[in-house]
Amino acid sequence: MCGIVGYVGDRLAAPILLDGLSRLEYRGYDSAGIAVVESGKALTVRKASGKLSVLVESMKGAAPTGFSGIGHTRWATHGGPTEVNAHPHTDSNKNVVIVHNGIVENYLELKERLQAEGHRFTSETDSEVIAHLMESLMGRGLVFEEAVRMTAQRIQGAQAVVAMNVQEPGTLVAFRLGNAGGITVGYGQREMFLASDLPALLPHTSQVAFLAPGEMVSVDAREARFRSVQGAPIHKSPQAAPYDAVAIAKDGYRHFMLKEIMEQPGTVHRAIGGRVSFEPADVLLPDFPFTPAQVREVNRIVLTGMGTSLHACMVARYYMEQIAGVPAEIDNSSELRYRNPILDSRTLVVSVSQSGETADTLGAMEEAARSGAKQITICNVEGSQTTRMAHGTVFIGVGPEIGVASTKCLTGSLAALYLLATYLGKVRGTVDQARMTGLLNDLASAPRLIGQALEQREAFGRLAHEYADYYNFLYLGRGINMPVAMEGALKLKEVSYIHAEGYPAGEMKHGPIALISKDMPVVALAPRDHLYDKMRSNIQEVKARGGKVLALVTQGHHDLAGVADGLIEMPSTPYLVSPIVNVVPLQLLAYHMALERGCDVDQPRNLAKTVTVE
Ligand code: F6R
Repeated sequence: MCGIVGYVGDRLAAPILLDGLSRLEYRGYDSAGIAVVESGKALTVRKASGKLSVLVESMKGAAPTGFSGIGHTRWATHGGPTEVNAHPHTDSNKNVVIVHNGIVENYLELKERLQAEGHRFTSETDSEVIAHLMESLMGRGLVFEEAVRMTAQRIQGAQAVVAMNVQEPGTLVAFRLGNAGGITVGYGQREMFLASDLPALLPHTSQVAFLAPGEMVSVDAREARFRSVQGAPIHKSPQAAPYDAVAIAKDGYRHFMLKEIMEQPGTVHRAIGGRVSFEPADVLLPDFPFTPAQVREVNRIVLTGMGTSLHACMVARYYMEQIAGVPAEIDNSSELRYRNPILDSRTLVVSVSQSGETADTLGAMEEAARSGAKQITICNVEGSQTTRMAHGTVFIGVGPEIGVASTKCLTGSLAALYLLATYLGKVRGTVDQARMTGLLNDLASAPRLIGQALEQREAFGRLAHEYADYYNFLYLGRGINMPVAMEGALKLKEVSYIHAEGYPAGEMKHGPIALISKDMPVVALAPRDHLYDKMRSNIQEVKARGGKVLALVTQGHHDLAGVADGLIEMPSTPYLVSPIVNVVPLQLLAYHMALERGCDVDQPRNLAKTVTVE
């Protein structure tokens, strides 16, 4: 969603802000802007609809020259992605300027009141009300910092805001309410930075502090002062940033998505490494928060997440049931949070969120916390909101994922969930030493098998060339590979904008079969497992109706060779590990289809990397 940067120091602000915004482009956005206070105290605001490059181009030779400023990449919620609606937004007199992530839920009511006071609004956004409210409060005699604090108390909803005031250009004030994305303070030498995400800060500093919900910060070039939005002082010291900037480079790949697909043998290895031993086989989760007695009292597991992370949950249901021996269900977080679910202290809620900032997942976790459920989260970002809300975290540990379409975080989450289930099974007595050895050996084979799957990378360019002109796809799978079919369809629609649906193959006869024709290819996951014969029959049914089938099959089993129109051959993989391997060719297919269609692979239209609004 929206990206935020801020700078105050002794260097020119504009290039730093633009560089920071370029490092947040991966989040997805549709317009961008910066505001800089120039010497002589004039405020210069520059905005552009579309890519950041449009803004950069528009400023060539005419960039503002001040030493403090704020910048923003906007993902439209209220009002279209126009230049006028782009951030930063100012008050009527251009004294106060703000950037905002989130939704001001009571903005209409506030706007009417402010308009009645004489404030002139220029955009269709909810965000603009924030600048006018600060102006109004300053008009009543409040100093800037207090006006920002009072604004934080009057707006409703989850927000992250950075504000600047022409009268005090050397100070930036920011606050965070709820879970609409973070604010991170970066400490430099005689300069300070603010950003919604670490990648914008890492070229300048590795010393950072995070705002928790309900906190605000005032920064100048020398220091950061923290308070709660209620006014209580808070002591915070900078800490070392968890990410390594080097890991964010493209490493010679054309796109982050491709780099992240290709590095999965290594990232899955990292996700497993350090948490298993093999002599004797064991899972080690040193920070696991529950005692063996508490683990044994769990009578149900609820897995929750959104999008790709929800698909991870769907696979993990098999892990929780078949490895840990606990009944498990899955729930989309945006539904779970409003359903008054029946949860209690014997329920273990396992949330999956690579970013740790997804608004709906956080809402579901809040609901779980209210009912006293035990909570573990699977997350890739240290210090993120979900990790603070859950009793314990199993980190995915695959390094920063920059491509908007999630790839390595999914395979890493699956490895983490597999380890969690194995750990629970050990404590609950469903996994004895022999089974532990088998399970961990199976998981340890995943990096090698992914590597083998990636060896066929070239073939996907050819497949994409053959299939990229179709407008609709059906993805079918069974058992533990059914969620993989859903993920394959999601990847395809996200990056290539081709309509695709993922279904349990058994469901096909109950409606989707009406769509089968030569114009709608079916991608069928047919690995040699106990459901293979059923899958084969489904493929025959598609062929009998004139459909075109691209089948993912296990190497060496060619009885679909004369039936399917195309085959993707995969190494033979243990059943429970198979989703971690089988999803990889579907990621590659989506990537190459997007390339073939000339799509912006790393920043697909309308999508955001971190979805901090509902
Ligand atoms: C798809 C994708 C999204 C996310 C979803 C949840 O490629 O990335 O579907 O999986 O928005 O995000 P997290 O995992 O950050 O909670």
